[in-house]
Amino acid sequence: MDSLILDSNTWLLVLTGAGVSAESGVPTFRGMSGLWEDQPVEAVASPEGFRKDPALVWRFYSERRKAAAAVHPNPGHEALVAWERHLGDRFLLATQNVDGLHTRAGSQRVVEMHGNLFKTRCSRCGRPPFEDATVYPAGAVPECDACGKLLRPHIVWFGEYLDPADIQRIEDFSLRAATSGGRFVFLAAGTSGAVYPAAGIVDQVRKAGGKTWLVNLDPAENSNRFEHRIVDKSGEVLPTLAKLA
Ligand code: APR
Repeated sequence: MDSLILDSNTWLLVLTGAGVSAESGVPTFRGMSGLWEDQPVEAVASPEGFRKDPALVWRFYSERRKAAAAVHPNPGHEALVAWERHLGDRFLLATQNVDGLHTRAGSQRVVEMHGNLFKTRCSRCGRPPFEDATVYPAGAVPECDACGKLLRPHIVWFGEYLDPADIQRIEDFSLRAATSGGRFVFLAAGTSGAVYPAAGIVDQVRKAGGKTWLVNLDPAENSNRFEHRIVDKSGEVLPTLAKLA
């Protein structure tokens, strides 16, 4: 297996998806066949779904909060912490996962592109997102104590845009990496490459002359755009893949 050298010349951007949390026991999106209680996840994780039945949406996310709080980071998460500690500000982790496991494992340079299960925000006023691990009882819909409107999970739903600040942070890092004179490397792990803009990062890196790696249990939709492809479990591959020099 090729080895990934992480030395003082390396700039590393990592993208993770649900597959990295799968070995912690968190079901993947496509693994759930996209259903929850026989409803398509899109029907619940969407602005329309929230408008139609906010109590159902809060039940969905309260159940996911409870499940995520009960699991623990796995060796795949821990390997990424070690890489970050080795590379410092030449490392950035962009994750599509909302389970908070990267932060719980010790990752600090994390962009949570799709939000975080354990944050809540007002659906109307500008009140900033706040930490909230509450598992709300069935039927409950919390209200904003500033404006009285409904609170919502701080999650990027289907049909919503990502936070421009998050996109900017990834682009700024990639530009610094590409113009550093060092070696720009992009590694994606545990993601089906089904959702943009995350699935398009590999193309931007290649355009910038970076090297690309994919660690995924199945072929991803954008597999053929990666130079190095390892079809295996991230929790088994990541701890031994990189040579820290
Ligand atoms: N190790 C590595 N890869 C794995 C593992 C594992 N142990 N288990 C599963 N996988 C792979 C699967 O083969 C699959 O290709 O992880 C991928 C998970 O893909 P998805 O379920 O599509 O999850 P993800 O790519 O994160 O979805 C992206 O889509 O549903 C939306 O917003 C949601 O963030 C999510 C986005």
